[in-house]
Amino acid sequence: MSKFLVCITDYIHEPLDIERQVLGDIAEVQAVGATSNAELVGRVEQADALMVYHFVSIDRELMRRMPRLKVVARCGAGFDNIDVAFAREQGIAVTNVPDYGTEDVADAALAMALSLARGTHRMAHICQRGTDNWSYELAVPLRRIRGQVFGIIGLGRIGTATALRAKAFGYDVVFLDPHVGDGMDKALGIRRAADLEELLRQCHVVSCHCLLSEQTRHLINPQTIQWLPPGSILINTARGAVVDAMAVLQGLESGRLLGAGIDVLEQEPPDPEHPLIRAWRDPNHPAFERLILTPHAAFYTEEGLADMRRKGSQNVRQVLLGQPCRNIVN
Ligand code: NAI
Repeated sequence: MSKFLVCITDYIHEPLDIERQVLGDIAEVQAVGATSNAELVGRVEQADALMVYHFVSIDRELMRRMPRLKVVARCGAGFDNIDVAFAREQGIAVTNVPDYGTEDVADAALAMALSLARGTHRMAHICQRGTDNWSYELAVPLRRIRGQVFGIIGLGRIGTATALRAKAFGYDVVFLDPHVGDGMDKALGIRRAADLEELLRQCHVVSCHCLLSEQTRHLINPQTIQWLPPGSILINTARGAVVDAMAVLQGLESGRLLGAGIDVLEQEPPDPEHPLIRAWRDPNHPAFERLILTPHAAFYTEEGLADMRRKGSQNVRQVLLGQPCRNIVN
């Protein structure tokens, strides 16, 4: 039997040890290393499978040129860069890897929340710049974490992992998720809020873990952020557009927010002239020491990256061999 051809479109380069370990006996595996769709032309047309990261989009025009294509494996959770409906029409399976970073994103959300709640980020910044006041007074007032309310928007995989971690620190955890059935609150020992206003009005910390949709776009905006008690903490590791960045800026300026931990922005990398970015880089602005901004890296651990590659390869293998595959999304 001749071997299948599997092309990794972008992001991953040689050595392809993980992919070849899973696929080597049935397929030849090549890395294209494209940074745009134009660089795929003439390089992938004969492939039986594509493994896709985030620099390219698999549109119908490309799929039409690929007569042997059987599976598009997105090595990550979101699949908005693949025309799933067209793939379905053509009988091409689309798969994803939903769980490569579940624990890692939850850890990152807690790391930011705790660093802000304990004043760690803020005091370290002030001391590094130089101060005569070498004392806890730099972070006054801080409150004990036990008993504070930790709100979770979106109780899916990552939201649940975050809830368990927050509980372990003594937070009273409350969630908002219209798609989660009754009983999850009891199973996890957390509380449910009926709507966004009820959730935000009681939160010391609120952490976003929902999917981005028309319902969740700018869920946190200049109006809704007013429902948070003064001195709250906002964390977003979900998708940038769930939070309006201008609400974060205004919240930090007004003191509504004690701090914010933001891993995702609507535009990545951000425009350096965006008001929030300018404020964050300005030593005289409160955002300088109250905003933790990271480059969409909450998922990242070496183990998570390896999971992405291995599980993406396993999905390809299962589809090519006609075996059941749990992660087909179309
Ligand atoms: P998931 O699908 O397991 O959970 C998402 C939850 O959001 C679901 O329970 C869903 O019911 C809920 N939801 C949908 N609409 C809602 C609404 N209007 N209000 C409240 N909840 C709503 O997804 P998972 O794997 O937990 O991912 C969560 C988020 O984290 C996603 O936005 C994903 O893109 C993001 N993510 C970020 C990473 C990073 O590196 N920063 C890495 C991986 C995922």
